[in-house]
Amino acid sequence: MTRGRQSLRPHLIERTCAPERFGARRRGGSSTFGMEDDMADEVVVAQRTPYVVEVGPGKVYWCRCGRSKNQPFCDGAHAGTTFTPMEVEFTEKKRVAFCGCKHTKKPPFCDGTHSRI
Ligand code: FES
Ligand code: FES
Repeated sequence: MTRGRQSLRPHLIERTCAPERFGARRRGGSSTFGMEDDMADEVVVAQRTPYVVEVGPGKVYWCRCGRSKNQPFCDGAHAGTTFTPMEVEFTEKKRVAFCGCKHTKKPPFCDGTHSRI
């Protein structure tokens, strides 16, 4: 079967980032930025359905932690957690379904896992 032209580059680049890059500020000297330690490693379900949005060309930063108020993109709210956003580059304008539940096995895209959480 022949597939259509892939606009997503074959690799998804994952990078750590400084919270300040996304507008987050550190509070005090705490390594958890004031967040309870037992919550810092937990994914928050932003919503149980995908975010269908038009993106590209260019890079976007998918929120992996679920804490962003600008879903499905990172707004720096992961500061103090173990999470970092996933950088995804699109070579052309495209409509995609980003995972909103943050439990997908094929990040950053919805794979239907939301129906089982
Ligand atoms: Fe940055 Fe969720 S807010 S990864
Ligand atoms: Fe997360 Fe569909 S919204 S797998």
